[in-house]
Amino acid sequence: MTQPLVECEGLVHIYKTAELEVVALQGLDLRVESGEMVAIAGRSGSGKTTLMNLLAGVEPPSAGAARVAGHDLARMDDRERDRYRREVVGYLLQHSLANLALDLTVIQNVQVPMIAGGPRRRGSRARKLLEKLGLGGQARLRPAQLTGAEAQRLALAVALANEPRLLLADEPTAELDGASARDLLDDLTSLLRNLGTAAIMVTHDQQLERHVDRVIQIRDGRTSTEKRWLARPNGDRQVADELVILDRAGRLQLPRAHVEKLGLRDRVRVHLEDDSIRITPAEPSPDADS
Ligand SMILES: Nc1ncnc2c1ncn2[C@@H]1O[C@H](COP(=O)(O)OP(=O)(O)O)[C@@H](O)[C@H]1O
Ligand SMILES: [Mg+2]
Repeated sequence: MTQPLVECEGLVHIYKTAELEVVALQGLDLRVESGEMVAIAGRSGSGKTTLMNLLAGVEPPSAGAARVAGHDLARMDDRERDRYRREVVGYLLQHSLANLALDLTVIQNVQVPMIAGGPRRRGSRARKLLEKLGLGGQARLRPAQLTGAEAQRLALAVALANEPRLLLADEPTAELDGASARDLLDDLTSLLRNLGTAAIMVTHDQQLERHVDRVIQIRDGRTSTEKRWLARPNGDRQVADELVILDRAGRLQLPRAHVEKLGLRDRVRVHLEDDSIRITPAEPSPDADS
């Protein structure tokens, strides 16, 4: 069996300020395979950016296990951390301009992360990457001369400059209008698939959910529902998986979203077949006592 590219188990992260401790992640589990594309969804404050910072090697987790491409994120020394951040992951921060050096040209920005790798073909690799992201004509401009969508494409080029195994992107389409967001996602996902690069992208964007293999919902610093697309001859269908607790009396608490989606209330039908149980609304029948 091959190792997953990303493996987090019981990941905990606590921010300590003078007065206060904030538990941002409380026992999060996550596995991502090489080349897989995953979206992370969840309310504001649920710990999404914290997870991205930990996976990017910005800081070590407070507790729990996190491993990416053979690196133990809880136990890296500074040297390994630098190498990890330069070679293994590309991180697109939430605000695109924060990723860019404003006094450098577009193409120089893409070359900055390549510097440690030596001068070999830096110029031509940067140019190719810009072309793939539709910025071939803007190489000599400065970031301030780009539109918001172009700046975001440039930030992606910078994040992908060293061909990382894993791209991390925090709300990559949040600052874009619908059409620019769609174009960016089309180009980005085909580029990632061509490169075989895995990606974890934080999103509120339903469009992005359609572009990835799985959507993982974080609630209160833990992973909860997982949705993925099943290819079906008569149209793709989204399925959702979630672990819930079954108590000794056989009671289980269904996720509220599922209950609402199916309009379940009072009585439901529980249908056992082979090794699974289906829960459906109990059809109203005329002689049922209500
Ligand atoms: N540097 C920090 N110091 C203290 N608390 C923080 C810090 N960063 C985030 N938090 C808190 O941690 C929780 C998770 O935040 P965050 O990871 O940014 O969530 P999200 O990206 O899902 O909105 C929030 O309660 C937030 O206020
Ligand atoms: Mg955030």
